[in-house]
Amino acid sequence: MDELLGKVADSLEEGTVPARIFNDPQVHRLEMERIFTRCWVFVGHVSEIASPGDYMLRYIGQDEFIVTRDENNEIHVLFNRCAHRGSPICRVEKGNATHFRCPYHAWIYKNNGEWNGAPLRARAYRKLDPKEWGLQAAPLVDTVHGLIFACLDPEGPTLREYLGDMAWYLDVIFGLSPEGMSVIGEPQRWQVPTNWKMGADNFVGDSYHVASLHRSIEEVGAFPDIDVTGGNGPGKHVSFPQGHGLLLNSGYLPEPWDKGGFPPEVSATFDLDRLTPLQREFVAEHAVTHLLIFPNLAFLRVPAVTAPGEMPAVFTLLRQWQPLESDQVVNWNWMLRWNSAPEEFNETGYIGGLSQHGPSGILEQDDGLAWSGAPDVGRSAFARKREVKFNYQLGFDGMSDYSVDTEYPYPGTATTTMLGELPQLTMYRRWLKEMVRA
Ligand code: FES
Ligand SMILES: [Fe+2]
Repeated sequence: MDELLGKVADSLEEGTVPARIFNDPQVHRLEMERIFTRCWVFVGHVSEIASPGDYMLRYIGQDEFIVTRDENNEIHVLFNRCAHRGSPICRVEKGNATHFRCPYHAWIYKNNGEWNGAPLRARAYRKLDPKEWGLQAAPLVDTVHGLIFACLDPEGPTLREYLGDMAWYLDVIFGLSPEGMSVIGEPQRWQVPTNWKMGADNFVGDSYHVASLHRSIEEVGAFPDIDVTGGNGPGKHVSFPQGHGLLLNSGYLPEPWDKGGFPPEVSATFDLDRLTPLQREFVAEHAVTHLLIFPNLAFLRVPAVTAPGEMPAVFTLLRQWQPLESDQVVNWNWMLRWNSAPEEFNETGYIGGLSQHGPSGILEQDDGLAWSGAPDVGRSAFARKREVKFNYQLGFDGMSDYSVDTEYPYPGTATTTMLGELPQLTMYRRWLKEMVRA
C-alpha cells in the first residue's frame, strides 16, 4: 500500500492518477478507515426528520446509522447495531419512534441512543451500567443551512473548519431565503457499478465532458445550447485545499434566468440583505452550478425542461455516492424545494430535474455508463501489469489557456477558464493526505 500511495504522489506531480486506486479492495478498506471515519460526511437534511421522534437510516462509508431527532429536538447519528451482539436494530428506512427495541434479545434504547432496558432487567442485569451500553454514536454532529453532517473522529475539526471557504459559498447558495430549502419526497436511491471517487471527480469540476457525453440532450431538444455549460464556456473552477470544489457559470440574479437563474417571482422572495456586500456582488455576477464537498456530497443547480420546447426551470439537488464496494455505489438523490417559492416553480423543477438526474434521468444514464469504466481498468490484470494511469493534464502546465485567476475577489482558488483539471488534482491531493496519515 505504501508503494502504491507513493506512486500516486509521483503521478499527481505529472498530472496523472494510477487507475488502480479506482478498484482495489485494500485501497477501499483504507479509504473506509482513513477518509470516511475522519471526514465530515453528509447524512441527510433536517426537513427529512422535522418532528421529534423522526428517524431515518443513513450511511457513512459502509456503516449504517440511524439519524434521529430526539424529544429535545437534538439530532443524533447512532450506529445501527446493537451493543449486545451487533444485531441490526432499526429495520425500516424511516419512521417515528421514542425507542428502538433490538429484535434479537430485546434490549431497548431511547431515540437519543441511551440504553433503556432489557427483558427481565431486574433479575438479568442487576449490575449493568446503562451509561456504558447505549448505542455507539457519531461523536460530532452539526448542520449548515439544514444539511446534517457527522464526523466519526472525536478529534476532528468543527464542521465550519472542515468546510473552510466553501462555507462562504453555502451561505450564498442556501442563505438567499430566510425560509430555506427542504427535501421533496424521499431521496431516490439506486445502485451504480462505479467507484465513489468517479462521482466526486466529476462534480468537483468536470465541465469538459458535458458537450460530448451529454450531447444527446441537446439533440432531442431537452436542453438548448448545451455548450453554455461545456468546458469552453465563460465559467471558472473554484477549488479549496480541503478537496472541495465548485463550478461557476454566468449570473442568475435577476437575469438571465433561463441560463441557470431564477424567475422574478422566485427571486422576489429572496432577501439579499442576509448576505455580506461581497456576497451580494458575487450573486449578481455568478452562479454556482455544481459543487463537491469532499468526500462524497455534491450539489447541482441548473435549468431543465419538462418537455422539448418548454421553458427551462431551475432545479436544485443534492447527490451522494455511498460506497458499497470498490466498484459499487448507491447513488442518493435529494430534490430540493425553496420553501418561499411558488409551488409551481418547485414542481416544474422537480419534474425537469428528475428527467435529467435521477434513476431514469437522461444525463444520469450517460454518466453511469461512462463512470463504470474506471473500476474495470482498476481491476484489470492487463492494466495493472502496465501500471495504467489516467490523464489529468487538461490545463496542466501550459496545456491550455488555464491558470489561477489572481484577480478573483472571492474566497478559494479560481481559474481563468474551465479548460483544466485543477479541482480534480486538488481533490486527489487531499485524498492522498488522509490516506498516508496513520
Ligand atoms: S443482539 Fe440486541 S439484544 Fe441481543
Ligand atoms: Fe455528467
